[in-house]
Amino acid sequence: MKDPKTIAVLGATGAQGGGLVRAILRDTAGEFRARAITRDPNSEKARQLSQLGADVVAANVDDESSLRRAFEGAYGTYCVTFFWDHFSPEREQAQAAAMARAAKAEGLRHVIWSTLEDTRRWVPLDDDRMPTLQAKYKVPHFDAKGDSDRFFAESGTPFTSLLTSFYWDNFIYFGMGPQKGPDGRLAITFPMGDKRLPGIAAEDIGACAYGIFRAGDAHIGRTVGIVGEHLTGAEMAEKFSRALGEEVRYNDVPPEVYRAFGFPGADDLGNMFQFKRDFNDYFCGARSIAESRKLHAGLHDFDTWLAENKSRIPISR
Ligand SMILES: NC(=O)c1ccc[n+]([C@@H]2O[C@H](COP(=O)([O-])OP(=O)(O)OC[C@H]3O[C@@H](n4cnc5c(N)ncnc54)[C@H](OP(=O)(O)O)[C@@H]3O)[C@@H](O)[C@H]2O)c1
Repeated sequence: MKDPKTIAVLGATGAQGGGLVRAILRDTAGEFRARAITRDPNSEKARQLSQLGADVVAANVDDESSLRRAFEGAYGTYCVTFFWDHFSPEREQAQAAAMARAAKAEGLRHVIWSTLEDTRRWVPLDDDRMPTLQAKYKVPHFDAKGDSDRFFAESGTPFTSLLTSFYWDNFIYFGMGPQKGPDGRLAITFPMGDKRLPGIAAEDIGACAYGIFRAGDAHIGRTVGIVGEHLTGAEMAEKFSRALGEEVRYNDVPPEVYRAFGFPGADDLGNMFQFKRDFNDYFCGARSIAESRKLHAGLHDFDTWLAENKSRIPISR
């Protein structure tokens, strides 16, 4: 290995960025080197990345000068924002704009921007099939990312837009795992009707991003959608039942019921699922299993993800 190309990875101690850092480090014969960006290089997670072989540097995405220092001399960067830490689309947009400017200023040769659709292109604000949220959005955590694509385009930095999918890890960490209902039976609950929900193992997102970097310039200027499998709620429930050895049903609720569940972000997620349901052909079509597998041969499908993770899924009984 000579002249390693450094990839500066935002969110390196988290799901997407962590998957990319580990994918780079696993490929010991590869031409890339991982620079893990964190707010706290002394944290347990940051120290683990350092022990695995990553260079760990400090930066905060709210501080553009720290981003420039973290990007300095790198070949590329993986840019991701952290909506659920603050619930502010405007803050996400300011961070994305700062990332794009910093990448351009440091002359990076390839930026991957982790984005999602601006759903207002499909459902304008005056369309009342779903409520407008925070005055300007239909799906705040999608719309701010999709609208931020223009910051990267306008900056002139060479970039790939990466359209991610629902993490199956939400069944572990986001309270979406099987829960016992009033009838005493386990169920997963989504407002998706009989439509398919594109899902992915969170760890595979970074591995697919690594495939994009390894492909050189092939994906620059493109939008790449990644997914592990497109499954209906009923199909996921059936797979849960087989993996857990206990019946899990699919509880299909209307989006307005989901929005009223009352947990923080329930309205945003209710609109998100409704968007995925109502524009299902577009949404699944934008995320190709075959293209994802070309980027990452070890891509999980839901059965293989469940086999590896079922013991970590908290089940409320
Ligand atoms: N859940 C899903 O199904 C799903 C699907 C698609 C897309 N997404 C999107 O994924 C994004 C989050 O990515 P993720 O899941 O990889 O995040 P994550 O696992 O929550 O990790 C976020 C990491 O980012 C770092 N971070 C947070 N604030 C920072 C700041 N101000 N400056 C620098 N670093 C900061 C933290 O590291 P340190 O503490 O070490 O600094 C943290 O470990 C969200 O915007 C969400 O909308 C989620």
